[in-house]
Amino acid sequence: MSLFRKKSIEDILKSTSDESQKNGLAKHLGVKDLTAFGIAAIIGAGIFSTIGKASADGGPGVIFLFIFTALACSFAAFAYAEFASVIPVSGSAYTYSYVAFGELFAWIIGWALIMEYAIGNVTVAISWSDYFTSLIANVSDYRMLEWLCTDYFTAKANYMEVYAMLSSGITLADVESNPDTAYLVEGFIAYGSAPAIGSLKIIFDAPALLINVLITILVYRGIKESRNASNIMVLIKLAIVLLVIFVGAFYVDTKNWNPFFPNGIKGLLSGISAVFFAYIGFDAISTTAEECKNPQRDLPRGILYSILICTVLYVAIALVITGMVNYSELKVADPLAFVFEKVKDLEWLAGVISVSAVVAMASVMLVFQLGQPRIWMAMSRDGLLPKAFAKIHPKFKTPSFSTIITGCLVAVPIFFVDINMVTDICSAGTLFAFSLVCAGVLKLKVENKNYNPTFKTPYVNAKYVVPVLFFGSFILIYIYDKATIDYYLKYESFNAFLTKLPLYTFVSVFAIITWLSIKHNFSLIPTLGLLSCFYMLSQLGYKNWLYFMVWLLIGLLIYFAYGKNHSKLATQNNNA
Ligand code: ALA
Repeated sequence: MSLFRKKSIEDILKSTSDESQKNGLAKHLGVKDLTAFGIAAIIGAGIFSTIGKASADGGPGVIFLFIFTALACSFAAFAYAEFASVIPVSGSAYTYSYVAFGELFAWIIGWALIMEYAIGNVTVAISWSDYFTSLIANVSDYRMLEWLCTDYFTAKANYMEVYAMLSSGITLADVESNPDTAYLVEGFIAYGSAPAIGSLKIIFDAPALLINVLITILVYRGIKESRNASNIMVLIKLAIVLLVIFVGAFYVDTKNWNPFFPNGIKGLLSGISAVFFAYIGFDAISTTAEECKNPQRDLPRGILYSILICTVLYVAIALVITGMVNYSELKVADPLAFVFEKVKDLEWLAGVISVSAVVAMASVMLVFQLGQPRIWMAMSRDGLLPKAFAKIHPKFKTPSFSTIITGCLVAVPIFFVDINMVTDICSAGTLFAFSLVCAGVLKLKVENKNYNPTFKTPYVNAKYVVPVLFFGSFILIYIYDKATIDYYLKYESFNAFLTKLPLYTFVSVFAIITWLSIKHNFSLIPTLGLLSCFYMLSQLGYKNWLYFMVWLLIGLLIYFAYGKNHSKLATQNNNA
């Protein structure tokens, strides 16, 4: 069927090599650069910011969430590494899906990856702005105008909430002094003091826009310039992260690790999206395949080294910060700086950490801003997007048009979205891509006898492990979820059912994969990758699934309106 027409590995490699001879991206990257790009993309807003809430909800036990997520990401990383060694081209998961599942899935993945890279960068830009404005406020007397450092909808919502409190007789001073409502004041002032055109208030996050413009210029300017900047930023952030771990270790009080799971499994799992967000990024380096000197050898190494290094650092950081203060105090936007502010004579270190957070987040943006245009370039070469998206700048040798469009796509949501929503949506898009890449490896191993990667994932037959896991999980889910199931059966509450729908979908998928793994002797590592990523996806809540489905529907409309008829494969078939 034409919607599932596939590209062969041989055709992709040939057309990419023709294309590179014609337009030529510059090849400057080796294994050290790739590992550095991986670390640049991974360590950012997650560990400097969102880990705070995850630790406050999950307690010290959050380290198990870090380990579980690292395992899931490592399984997916093996699949990426294997694919990258077979198809070293810029399209990454998009191209891998084209080979494994055909055009429609490839388009869907390409579309979902916009959530990871462009929408992910919206999250990071907003976090960057938070750290940057508080840093400026700490080192100088300058205070940014409130309407220049928040988004419109947050400001409006906060304004309404505070307005209602003031109308009921509560004073602004009360709102400000109450830890539960203090965060509303900035938005209240922003909305109240913003200039307006007619009835429309002008409110936007200027530092987030500024960093987006600067990063876009750097990425447009060249891969070598981007690499040099990334390498320097990685050195700075690694030095600070190591400093936090080694200095912090002396201030750990093991009493803080008791209780280890204060809010049980439920509290722990509520941090899943934040912790997963902290690991996102290692896959982005596969989009630079055509700019690597030896991609088949170096890409798999770069992917696996970067994830390994970051896992060790993350677990150590989680242990240190939950050991330095009581977990309940960690619900702050800057947890790493916060724990040192509490240690007498080490307040200066909090300042250093804030500077390095700004650097770290800029480096994440850099790699994501590199990844997005390269995927569009690959989609455009296949005819699924207009030709301009594949245009390479004659002097800078970068996909110039796509780079500018990426900058614009990150800039627009900065004006109006709320950071928590984009974090979850970014995690959903990424988990979806990871799941399909793992599934793609399994499918090609079974179907394509010519599939012979230079990097081979160690093989263990999944049928000896997955069925045991399935029955074990089934029992656990039943015990753990018994209350909801009973409630649903008793009251036929549609809402209770709806909130559990993603979990039930997971259980059904688990059953199918268990059966397939027995039938086809699946390889264990990609099978576990698929299951663990799909499990995390099921934990993101049905609202995020709904947003994600709407996003996919929009993508499908565009595909049927444009890509389906302009696809190179469609044209080739018509000419044949
Ligand atoms: N892993 C990246 C970060 O934490 C997305 O900022």
